[in-house]
Amino acid sequence: MQIRHILLYGIIGISFLLLFVGWWYRSQPDVEIGRRLVVNSCGVCHDLTAAQNHERGPYLWGVYNRHAGSSGFNHSEAFLNKISGSDFIWDDKNLNAFISNPSKFIPRTEMGKHDSKHPTAFSGIESASNREDVIAFLKTLR
Ligand code: HEC
Repeated sequence: MQIRHILLYGIIGISFLLLFVGWWYRSQPDVEIGRRLVVNSCGVCHDLTAAQNHERGPYLWGVYNRHAGSSGFNHSEAFLNKISGSDFIWDDKNLNAFISNPSKFIPRTEMGKHDSKHPTAFSGIESASNREDVIAFLKTLR
């Protein structure tokens, strides 16, 4: 093999490696983006600190892998019906489905409800990669 072939294949090999590393890096959830999203979109209704206060919704400290409804918060009937009878844990799959569209996952949940007492409601996070970022940050709340 000639030296210029070795160089050529070397350059092609390194280029693929860099492309792969770039792709892998961008496909990882970003905890810092998640933190900003959670502070801005969830913090209006949820306490995110170790103080574990109930606000409009239950506190989110330690929510990852927590049993749904186990915080002592006064949940809606819709929510309690959804989680009853099964071992309902806030794992990646359930968190992803809930924050994607709360009212679709749990019809009539308080989290997605507008009413006279609570004019704001949470309709969900459309972007799948932003939901991954949010869940990555929720995991750090412990
Ligand atoms: C408009 C207020 C509001 C916003 C904004 C909001 N939530 Fe909620 N959330 C609630 C309420 C109210 C409940 C209780 C739901 C029920 O009982 O029907 C709840 C319940 C939850 C639960 C269930 C907790 C448990 O202990 O079982 C999780 C998880 C959750 N919210 C995550 C989030 C995340 C993550 C965000 C931001 C991406 C968010 N929420 C934004 C009001 C809100």
